[in-house]
Amino acid sequence: MATIVGAITTSHVPAIGGAIAKNKQQDPYWKPSFFDGFPVAHQWLDKVRPDVAVVIYNDHGLNFFLDKMPTFAVGAAPEYCNADEGWGIPALPPHRGDLDLSWHLIESLIAEEFDLTTCQEMLIDHAFAIPMELLWPGPAPCPVRTVPVCINTVQFPLPTPARCFKLGAAIGRAIEFWDNDARVVIVGTGGLSHQLDGQRAGFLNKEFDLLFMDKLIDDPLWVTRYSIPDLVELTGTQGVELLMWLTARAALPGGVNKVHSNYHIPISNTAAALMVLESV
Ligand code: DHB
Ligand code: FE
Repeated sequence: MATIVGAITTSHVPAIGGAIAKNKQQDPYWKPSFFDGFPVAHQWLDKVRPDVAVVIYNDHGLNFFLDKMPTFAVGAAPEYCNADEGWGIPALPPHRGDLDLSWHLIESLIAEEFDLTTCQEMLIDHAFAIPMELLWPGPAPCPVRTVPVCINTVQFPLPTPARCFKLGAAIGRAIEFWDNDARVVIVGTGGLSHQLDGQRAGFLNKEFDLLFMDKLIDDPLWVTRYSIPDLVELTGTQGVELLMWLTARAALPGGVNKVHSNYHIPISNTAAALMVLESV
């Protein structure tokens, strides 16, 4: 049976891709606050040696547009290419898929009554490609195979936190019953608080973010008390991307040990955070 080694959750700001492309990792804006958070994640990945990453993220209009918007979509492709949906950042290299885990996840989740969209072709946007580049920086090819799990946070209605928790828990159960000796890491990307448009553009909520990060460790169901409108009010229209963190945490089968966390306001318009949680 497969082993879930833990989860890494992080923000996915496109400007990070620009900083990497222009080699600005050592600049004062980026280094102490943002890139310095990652060496601990690299050391942890070296220790736990995952073979596969299940990457829970939200697409921003690249693979899915407003005309067709699945609530939940799972990739089942041999390879996932990155493209830029309009930020002007160069494309990162493609990621290898893991067809066996993709189909196992899809079959398990549909058997558990989740109505998924199955994608045998799937473009991945900055929300997938940039966190993966941060976790496994190039130029060496990314050493893990991947399965993308995409959750709609772009077009209302969005899935509730409770539904996302259940999806994450079902992903965790499916991986545990995968007849394979692979080591699996869950990656969740998005958030934390931010609002890119409208009257509250630039809105951040440090107090809520830090409480959310704290609760995610031992009481992840805490955030399910909030509705989507509550979360928009508390964290901003794009802050609801924290659902990816919740889903990733829910996939961990038991208790967790916090290996590391980092929080910095702002990177671009976003409260940028990173958390490494090890399954115990
Ligand atoms: C920004 C943050 C995001 O999560 C995103 O998807 C796009 C832009 C930002 O802060 O610039
Ligand atoms: Fe985003």
